[in-house]
Amino acid sequence: MSQDNKKVTVETTGHVWDDDLQELNNPLPRWWIWGFYITFAFALVYWLFYPAWPIGNTYTKGIPGLNTITYVATKVDGTQETKTTHWNMRAKLMAEMNALRTEQKPYFDKVASKSFDEVSKDAELMQFVNSAGKTLFSDNCAACHQAGGQGKIKFAPNLTDDYWQYGGSYENIQTTITAGRHGVMPAFKTILSDQELSQVGSYVLSLSGEPNDTAAAKLGDAIFHGNKAGCYVCHGADAKGNIAMGSANLTDKIWLWPDVLGAKTPQDKLNEIKTLVYGGMDKGVMPVWGTRLSAEQIKLLTVYVHDSLGGGK
Ligand code: HEC
Ligand code: HEC
Repeated sequence: MSQDNKKVTVETTGHVWDDDLQELNNPLPRWWIWGFYITFAFALVYWLFYPAWPIGNTYTKGIPGLNTITYVATKVDGTQETKTTHWNMRAKLMAEMNALRTEQKPYFDKVASKSFDEVSKDAELMQFVNSAGKTLFSDNCAACHQAGGQGKIKFAPNLTDDYWQYGGSYENIQTTITAGRHGVMPAFKTILSDQELSQVGSYVLSLSGEPNDTAAAKLGDAIFHGNKAGCYVCHGADAKGNIAMGSANLTDKIWLWPDVLGAKTPQDKLNEIKTLVYGGMDKGVMPVWGTRLSAEQIKLLTVYVHDSLGGGK
């Protein structure tokens, strides 16, 4: 520590410790003082207009009449009532939603009254379908099917391709969304030996031109079409699947549960198929939306998925 302690020239409080330790008494900077007064004034004005101080289990709501907000609330029994209340975030959101709903209603009515094809051919209405559909999709569907509808392997299917496990017509998609889907494939762990799993797995790989052991695939063909495993009963003799039960088409390069395209070696690809057939699959649950979205919203989403995400078929 340096010893050239100069005599302190600013004002002190007069307190001294250890002979030379003094407490200075500098005035607060002017800008700071003004900042303080301004925030104080702002807080007072804010307090008059907006909900501010908590008191017990309620809070001050601002001076009545200074800042009110009106919105239409739907009661549990479906009837509507107009409410006027002090300004608050929830009421503001309700009012904004009312405005949006009123603005959108004529368009939703149009979607509801037209056939799918008519909606699809109406360029102006399709602009609305695209924007409202995008919002509905990101609010309700994107968590599983991802923002662009591209899906995620081992989780939820891609909705942008031309392949539809449950059918890609407007009506099929509408049914899928309204009633949900739950594809179930039984486990074969007690039915097929490891060797048989390898054989039927090789056959499945051969169907979409993936590398496979040709001799094993030939034996797998017989297992697939035989009655012990009975794969053909659900997937069809041509292995192209059945949209009524959502048994997948095994002849294309589109996979939901086994990550065949992502697996590096032919052995990894085979293992992906074997694991699925061994354990079966019941995790594919598409939730029911008929109870959560209105019929018009579902119809609009159907057109959005079919036309805008692409790949209706
Ligand atoms: C909790 C996750 C989840 C959410 C949320 C979800 N889905 Fe799905 N969806 C799935 C799964 C999983 C499947 C596949 C079901 C199966 O494999 O049996 C599926 C299947 C589908 C299919 C059938 C695809 C085909 O190939 O036939 C459509 C269409 C679909 N979803 C649309 C939607 C729409 C529209 C929404 C939003 C309203 C939505 N999904 C919300 C998980 C979800
Ligand atoms: C009872 C009907 C049924 C039987 C029998 C059946 N499957 Fe499946 N399989 C399904 C269904 C349904 C799915 C779709 C599951 C889902 O997406 O949730 C499926 C999916 C698959 C998949 C995944 C396809 C993909 O794209 O993700 C493979 C591979 C498969 N099955 C192979 C087989 C083989 C091999 C056999 C015979 C050993 C077999 N299945 C027997 C109903 C069946």
